[in-house]
Amino acid sequence: MRSLIDIVDLSVEEITELIDTANDIIANPEKYCEKCRHKKLATLFFEPSTRTRLSFEAAMLELGGNVIGFSAANNSSAAKGESVSDTVRTVGCYADIIAMRHPKEGAPMIASMRSPVPIINAGDGGHNHPTQTLADLLTIQREKGRFDHLTVGLCGDLKFGRTVHSLIHALSRYEGVHFVMISPEELRVPEYMIQEMQKNGISYEETRSLEEVMPQLDILYMTRVQRERFFNEADYIRLKDSYILTLDKLETAKKDLCVMHPLPRVNEISVAVDDDPRACYFKQVSNGKYIRMALILKLLEVE
Ligand code: CP
Repeated sequence: MRSLIDIVDLSVEEITELIDTANDIIANPEKYCEKCRHKKLATLFFEPSTRTRLSFEAAMLELGGNVIGFSAANNSSAAKGESVSDTVRTVGCYADIIAMRHPKEGAPMIASMRSPVPIINAGDGGHNHPTQTLADLLTIQREKGRFDHLTVGLCGDLKFGRTVHSLIHALSRYEGVHFVMISPEELRVPEYMIQEMQKNGISYEETRSLEEVMPQLDILYMTRVQRERFFNEADYIRLKDSYILTLDKLETAKKDLCVMHPLPRVNEISVAVDDDPRACYFKQVSNGKYIRMALILKLLEVE
């Protein structure tokens, strides 16, 4: 039995297989509509979500399965003090697979040690978000046709932005990827990740200016400043509008730039950018459902 806690739990070959399956589902959805008949997915969301929870649920329904779960900790016995371990041991009696989001870093990993069924990390605190990365990778593959030899700009809250952490880990495994990390000083990528990148010889630079680096980027991955992770509201207010992508700023960008954002957006991308052909963030939303269908099939070992 396998869980997905960190994106590197999947080999490069397995990621390629998942992307191939997702592309086949997009092309031939009818082939898959009964694959999970009589299977149940439980979505245990101890933190708010729109895309991740609903795309997991849509994914299982489109595979012919069923869904159960809760969308907030206060709708579950966690509100009475039940541990994550006891929760998953219980839900494992009712469901075949569990997608879990939790505000505490490492909670899905602890859950996977006690769960009788596969656990999928649907976001743990400011740590990781591996299935968002799978959606991002499917989008990059469909837009750029490759993962190697790309210059990838990561902009905004790189400290608490869990999607960025998982994406760096995923793309670091491909040749010729250069990361351009654009953030205020206070929201730089965590030091442990910088050390990892240096140790593994990953090519990167850090800057405060989006405008300066815009012309060199193949991908621009914008992120929201993660208000819920700040200890101090004044710091959030000071930093929240550090970067706002507008059509003016895109004038110096490559014609085939891919503008990405895991969403939700607050103010980081002007709505005027949505109509630019380079805007890919709603494609990420759509791709998220298909890659989660592929992941459910893999973890349930459905042929
Ligand atoms: N990208 C993402 O995780 O969105 P939600 O918080 O809406 O699930």
